[in-house]
Parts: sequence; structure tokens; C-alpha cells
Amino acid sequence: MRQAMVAGNWKMNGSSASVSELIEGINAGVGETSAEIVVCPPFVYLSAIAAATADSAVKLGAQNMCDQDGGAFTGEISGPMLKDIGCEYVIIGHSERRAMYGETDEITAIKYGAVLKNGLKPIFCIGETLEERESGVTEDVIGRQIDAILESDGVASLANAVLAYEPVWAIGTGKTASPEQAQDVHAFIRGKIAALDAGIADGLRILYGGSMNPGNAADLIAQADIDGGLIGGASLKADDFLAICKAAG
Ligand code: PGA
Repeated sequence: MRQAMVAGNWKMNGSSASVSELIEGINAGVGETSAEIVVCPPFVYLSAIAAATADSAVKLGAQNMCDQDGGAFTGEISGPMLKDIGCEYVIIGHSERRAMYGETDEITAIKYGAVLKNGLKPIFCIGETLEERESGVTEDVIGRQIDAILESDGVASLANAVLAYEPVWAIGTGKTASPEQAQDVHAFIRGKIAALDAGIADGLRILYGGSMNPGNAADLIAQADIDGGLIGGASLKADDFLAICKAAG
């Protein structure tokens, strides 16, 4: 039985005051869910949120990571640094990084390997654009994105990772994939992994992301191959985030 997971991707939002209010609200309700709860604040607030979650079940993730462990890489943050301040997860391959910061399949695979090498767990994001969906190549795109990490790190690496299916057209748009649309892709992903290793596929958590909110979370997470959510906008309000967490278990 896979433990559900709900991860909040705060993106580049918040201030010292607002993130501290947000985490207090989340801490207060986290006892009411059996799902694993992760928050991914902007780098500059990670230490403050690590301190604020020290006595809470809420776990910490980063939104990005450098593939190098240290040295002259201006502006970058390394795996050992994230480990040092108490991170457990790192989002890799988010579509915003792929689209706006030039992260290719090759770069995401290198980062994925670096996360694992540092004893951290990747939340590896995959997803098609609207144009790709409309031209019928969704499975080709998702397959290619997953092949990048399978070729570099092998299927066994997924024992320490989480996948997040995030259709690009659903991110931040208010347009959610229907439960059936999402389930179809999640089943395709699990089937692809199962063809290589049934045990790994069975234990692998595959999150849905893209305009998940308190109103649609339960129907999405009820699908057989959807194990939780990666939440952007709705993770910035404690009540909404907690409602999604409760819908997950
Ligand atoms: P959204 O973002 O929930 O605001 O659509 C999801 C994500 O980008 O992870």
C-alpha cells in the first residue's frame, strides 16, 4: 500500500511574515491526515521553515538543486547544503524550469542523479504541453522524459524517488486534467515502469499536479494510480492545502 503524499510547491512566493504564518497554519492541521506532507519553500526561507517544522510531521523539500556539490557556481545551491539544513526532497524537472530556464531532459537527468547521490529524494516532474496533447504525442513525451532518468540511473533509482505528472496546460491555469485523463497517463507511467520492474512500479508514488484544489483533489486522488498531489497555487493558503491533504488520506 503506497502512502499518499501531498507536496506544496510555493514557487517564488512569500515573505518572512507570510511563510511563517503559512507554516503555522499547516503545522496546526497536519495531525488530521495520514498522508506524507512536504512543503517546498523558496531557498531563502528553507532554514526558517526547517526550524518551524522541527517538531511537526511536515517535511521539507527544495524547488531546485545544482548538480555540483560545491565550489565556484555563483547563485547555485548544492545537495550537501540542502541536506545540511534538513531537506529530504528536491523537485527536479518542473515544467517552469524546463520552459524558462533551459532545463533539457539531459540536465534534469544529471540533477536527478545528483539529488540521489546526496541522499535526498527527487520529486521528478514530467508532463506534456497543450500542443503535444492535441497532436496525440502525450505518451511519447512522458516516455522520453522518463527514459532520460532510466538511462542515467536505472529503474532501481525510482525506489528513492517520487514522480509527478503535471500536464503543462493545467499548471496555474485553473484547468485541471479530468480524473480519467490523469489516470490514463498515470497508468501509462506505472505500466512503463512495471515492464522493467514490477516491484518498483508497485511501490512508486506518482503525484498529479496542475490546478489541484480542495474541490477536485478527492476525485483525482481516488484514481487507482494517483498517489497524491504536487500543489502550487492552492498550497499558499493553509486551509486549502490542508483540505487537499485530508482528501489524500
Ligand atoms: P498549480 O501548480 O497547482 O498552481 O497549478 C502546480 C505545480 O506547478 O507544481
